[in-house]
Amino acid sequence: MIHREVADGLERLWNVRVNCIWEADESSRHGEVYIFDHVFNQECTNSDVYGSVVKPLVDSFMEGFNATIFAYGQTSSGKTHTILGNKTDPGLFQLVSNQLFQHVADQVDKRYLIRCSYIEIYNEKINDLLDKSNQGLTREDIKGNVLLDAREAVVDNVDKVMENMMQGNKIRRVAATRMNERSSRSHTIFRIILESKDANQKDGPVHISYLNLMDLAGSERVSLTKAAGERLKEGANINKSLSVLGNVIRQLSEGKEFISYRDSKLTRLLSQALGGNAKSLIIGNVTLAAEETRSTPEFAQSTKTVKNKTKVNILSATEEHFKDIRT
Ligand SMILES: Nc1ncnc2c1ncn2[C@@H]1O[C@H](COP(=O)(O)OP(=O)(O)OP(=O)(O)O)[C@@H](O)[C@H]1O
Ligand SMILES: [Mg+2]
Repeated sequence: MIHREVADGLERLWNVRVNCIWEADESSRHGEVYIFDHVFNQECTNSDVYGSVVKPLVDSFMEGFNATIFAYGQTSSGKTHTILGNKTDPGLFQLVSNQLFQHVADQVDKRYLIRCSYIEIYNEKINDLLDKSNQGLTREDIKGNVLLDAREAVVDNVDKVMENMMQGNKIRRVAATRMNERSSRSHTIFRIILESKDANQKDGPVHISYLNLMDLAGSERVSLTKAAGERLKEGANINKSLSVLGNVIRQLSEGKEFISYRDSKLTRLLSQALGGNAKSLIIGNVTLAAEETRSTPEFAQSTKTVKNKTKVNILSATEEHFKDIRT
């Protein structure tokens, strides 16, 4: 439990053991035991999460697979803590960047080009967090896919990745609510684009892959956050896009032909991660002190039935193309 929950005298309503989570009051109507690939208890750090489930995904990303990691959960459940962390418990941003540049340093016979972009979805508008003047991005291709014309910064070391992330965080929408004094009011996507080729093969193939690290805004109950005015409007947009995400997952898990990706910007941008060409890792953040926690294991359970179709992405590009992108 976090300080606020202890200070408010909240009770622990959930039990966690091995890979299971269930309600402490077993007489509850919902007395289901939820079982997952991994359940991390309150003693676990971000590094434990990274070592067990994130590192293998980043290994695939470096082989040319697209990858998406997102943190999902109620407001104040620890999503931003998982992605950003703090000095004593670094978040996935830092840990993934360390792994990426360590890998690049070890592969002396390969050439790499690494770029990053950082955007937020705020009140259904996509804004560039690396370029304040680039707001309301929404260009669509002929098939209706949202194209992101976000600024892409070339990065060649961990510090540059962190600099871009911190620059973006300065303008990301955050506000105090009753539940969280630094509540994320927008969904963010930090994207790393990795291109690699064999250093000895002039016209050899280029592998290209995308890694999306997403920190979603959390769903919230107005009765708990006491939101009003601008906060209330943000909360309504957050809840709406998360409910579309829930619908999309349900449609995918039921094998429906029509999937309503187009109902929110969030699901449009996530369409590859959900049922498309990407390996996806969903981290469900929960507090053990709220009944509302139930919605997260329920959501997470339905995501497990979604099947993606992944492949290594190879550009049939020439050396010239690779150089072009580098400049
Ligand atoms: N595992 C943890 N260890 C220590 N502190 C934590 C942990 N998880 C969350 N916290 C603390 O709890 C508070 C709320 O966490 P956080 O901001 O990450 O929630 P969130 O899920 O991102 O919420 P929102 O949806 O409102 O953005 C923060 O002060 C954070 O530092
Ligand atoms: Mg947050």
